[in-house]
Amino acid sequence: MADLVADIKARLSIEDVVANYIPLKRAGRSFKACCPFHNEKTPSFVVSPEKQIAYCFGCHQGGDMFKFVEQVENTDFMGAMRILADRAGLKLEDYKIETDKPRISKSEKETLIQMHEAAAEYFVDNLWNTEDGKKVMQYLKNRGMTDVIIRHFKVGFAPDNDSGLIDHLVKKGFQKSAMIKSGLVTSKDVSSDKIFDKFRMRLMFPIADATGNVIAFGGRALKDAQEPKYLNSPETEIYHKGSVLYGLYYAKKAIKDADEVVVVEGYMDTLMSFQSGIENVVASSGTALTQEHARMIKRITSNAVFAFDNDNAGQEASKRAFIIAQEQEMSIKFLKVPHGKDPADSAKENPDELKAAIKNAKPFLEVFFDNLAGRFDLNDQAQLMEFLRECMSVLSAVKNNIIQDLAVRSLSARINVKEEKIYDEIERYKSLALKQPQSKMKEPPSDNGANVKKMSAEDTILAILFLYPELFSTIDSRIDENDFENELKSLYKTFVTQDGSITDAILKNLDSEQERNRVHFLSLYAESRYENIKAEAVRKDFDQLVQHVVSKKMVVKKEELKKMIKEADRKGDMGGREALLNDLQKLCSK
Ligand code: GTP
Ligand code: MN
Repeated sequence: MADLVADIKARLSIEDVVANYIPLKRAGRSFKACCPFHNEKTPSFVVSPEKQIAYCFGCHQGGDMFKFVEQVENTDFMGAMRILADRAGLKLEDYKIETDKPRISKSEKETLIQMHEAAAEYFVDNLWNTEDGKKVMQYLKNRGMTDVIIRHFKVGFAPDNDSGLIDHLVKKGFQKSAMIKSGLVTSKDVSSDKIFDKFRMRLMFPIADATGNVIAFGGRALKDAQEPKYLNSPETEIYHKGSVLYGLYYAKKAIKDADEVVVVEGYMDTLMSFQSGIENVVASSGTALTQEHARMIKRITSNAVFAFDNDNAGQEASKRAFIIAQEQEMSIKFLKVPHGKDPADSAKENPDELKAAIKNAKPFLEVFFDNLAGRFDLNDQAQLMEFLRECMSVLSAVKNNIIQDLAVRSLSARINVKEEKIYDEIERYKSLALKQPQSKMKEPPSDNGANVKKMSAEDTILAILFLYPELFSTIDSRIDENDFENELKSLYKTFVTQDGSITDAILKNLDSEQERNRVHFLSLYAESRYENIKAEAVRKDFDQLVQHVVSKKMVVKKEELKKMIKEADRKGDMGGREALLNDLQKLCSK
């Protein structure tokens, strides 16, 4: 395993790996970019060719190329390895990696993935090789699906059986406790430990992660009055609905080639579109499109075509998805699906027509206004107002000025109202929306803020010391190692014992992986933040940071002293009290 990692690292550079996902700008010795893991306007994502790491100083995600790919592709170490080996032109088979054979200590995630793979096999086997399965196969044929697509997407059948899957999984050596964690089983009541297959009498669509591992299922009802129509796997350790796009694994290459993605609503829509030759198709199955979905798409392409159902729910969903996609400044087209109510029907009816419709899709807002105008009588004052309110809710979300301008012009011509008035209305809508807490609730939670934490003063002090070790002497024992926490403490101690003359050799000899990583990140931070700043300014910053830590320390000390004085008071220890007061006064006059 170690050999493969080394070979991959020798063949690929972190900057090339990262540049595959986001555009990089050179900044001194490193590259900078807007972070792919959180929304930001000023770049805090730094890629260092020298250190071969990529790291975000805003949200603290990143690491070496394996860590980066794990995070950006939402996969595990093995998944990242597969992707990188492929990119490096290396074959996993040439290395002694046991991907299939069970290993002695499997992580919980690996077990869950293997269990899902085994379940998918079981469902596929039931579809192709059982009597009931043949009936389901007939159903798929009636809906226009070919054997090729059924195999390609590993569609399966969960029979009407309480424990068929469980028995299969037991035979394969999986523990019941792991089955419960997988969401593939259910228990009738919490108190009993009897478990049942969760998916019964359903058409099974396996949901794959970015590397093709089966991590969940969507199961369609096969009987009338069977509720719900679609039963999806619950969130598990390996399945996070908000960050999985159905079909992405199969569509990725086609999306890249076409520089466009077709977004549909359902599993059937995905499969039938794919079958019609629209291979760049994904669905946000089981949930509305999320920011994370949009970010995942944006890493591959900036252009999306929405092919949602022709009903009101589809229109409403497309509006929400459009607003989400605005956050990533994506260019969105929209089409009225020809024939039938959704792309699945349309593909069955006439695949070429669906393909043509996608090719000729128009800018989202054009079609949206068209559809909307068809629902309202614009000569009626009250209906016109309602129409405008609907328009404003999307127009106000558009981030790109040019797109907004075009849309405003088109709307202006449509209802014969001056463009300025429409702009006024957009502004009014925005300020109203801000005042209404409930309209804010509809917006997806932005991960801005919450997981973005600043570098602490202590972090920054160490970072600067890596770049300017000579500043160590200016600290003049105002602070000491006790002012630092965790691995920062021992790093600072290293400085002290070396009297500031730290070298790469010393840093490489650090004991723990964690310390070495910290050194990487801190020196990378120093480079990106301080390299192009005059030494005098850095010195000033440094002094202020040290002073900040000193003041923090004083505040804590004062609080401590005050507590002790109170304690002395309580005990009537007048002598002790006097001495403590003295200390406090000295501290305050500093
Ligand atoms: P068919 O009716 O077989 O063509 O499937 P469809 O995919 O077109 O279904 P539909 O248009 O009703 O729904 C679109 C997508 O929304 C589905 O593929 C599911 O992902 C999701 N969905 C629909 N109904 C349900 C439900 O009852 N529960 C959940 N969780 N998701 C659903
Ligand atoms: Mn549908």
